[in-house]
Amino acid sequence: MRRITLLTNPDKCNLRCALCFLRQQGIVSYSGEMPFEIAKKAIEKYNPQEVIPSTMGEPLLYSRFEDLLHLCEMTGIKMNLTTNGTFPGKWGTPSVMFELVQACSDIKVSTLAYEMGGFLRHLWRENVEKLIECRKRRQDSSATVSLQVTLHRENIQDVKDILTWAEKAGVYRIKWNPAVFIPNTSPIIEKRFKLSNQELETLRLELLEGSLHSDKIKYEGSLFLKDPTEECPMSGSCEKCPFTDEVWIWPDGHEDRCPNPKKRWRKF
Ligand SMILES: C[S@@+](CC[C@H](N)C(=O)[O-])C[C@H]1O[C@@H](n2cnc3c(N)ncnc32)[C@H](O)[C@@H]1O
Ligand code: SF4
Repeated sequence: MRRITLLTNPDKCNLRCALCFLRQQGIVSYSGEMPFEIAKKAIEKYNPQEVIPSTMGEPLLYSRFEDLLHLCEMTGIKMNLTTNGTFPGKWGTPSVMFELVQACSDIKVSTLAYEMGGFLRHLWRENVEKLIECRKRRQDSSATVSLQVTLHRENIQDVKDILTWAEKAGVYRIKWNPAVFIPNTSPIIEKRFKLSNQELETLRLELLEGSLHSDKIKYEGSLFLKDPTEECPMSGSCEKCPFTDEVWIWPDGHEDRCPNPKKRWRKF
């Protein structure tokens, strides 16, 4: 198995980003987290190359996050982390950030945290700069520090600014992902945040070969792909699915083979 995603704490977060799938779905309460035994068993069962902790909720708030990190280190499995950049509690201290850069293959920090008003931009930037500094000092680590930018109507004018800062800070890669809207999301949310295909196409070209191109930072993300969630057949065969060697494990231990947020949220 290439990698497994452990939904360690899918609805526990310290922020309330308006665009987040949790908010779009109207989830406001906390339903509990994954017992560590389930995480451990899944790692033993699949022996993956990589473990992704919670892609919903804030993974650094999982009460057993440190145990998970140590388990990954002990078994030689890399952690692939996406975090909102608040680095709560001890995770914001350089000594603990050293542990993160040692145990992770990639740490993606999402810009949504400050864009939605949940966290101050200068504190978010300081945290990312601190993390990059730890990575630079840790010569034996191969971790990369990336940004994950969810593109929406309220940050499109900030792209140049994000880029200028990221180049200076030494960010390795930026994933540019257009915002996803789940079925039955509020029309107010769509009206406020959704970019037109034309706007996304203009941005894509500007990033690839225009004024937003960077020689220093690698670009990836769904902006550059034919939208896999659009192509995905929600019913019928999943023959073209690129995720056949991945599995998603929920807090109660049940397994899911499909990451498509539009499909996943239909079940609720
Ligand atoms: C749901 S968050 C969970 C991890 C962590 N709390 C964070 O914000 O990075 C995972 C990623 O999804 C992104 N995201 C949230 N809502 C989104 C949406 N509606 N469309 C696309 N990406 C979204 C976030 O910016 C983040 O990069
Ligand atoms: S920080 Fe991540 S999980 Fe939390 S509300 Fe924002 S996007 Fe959602």
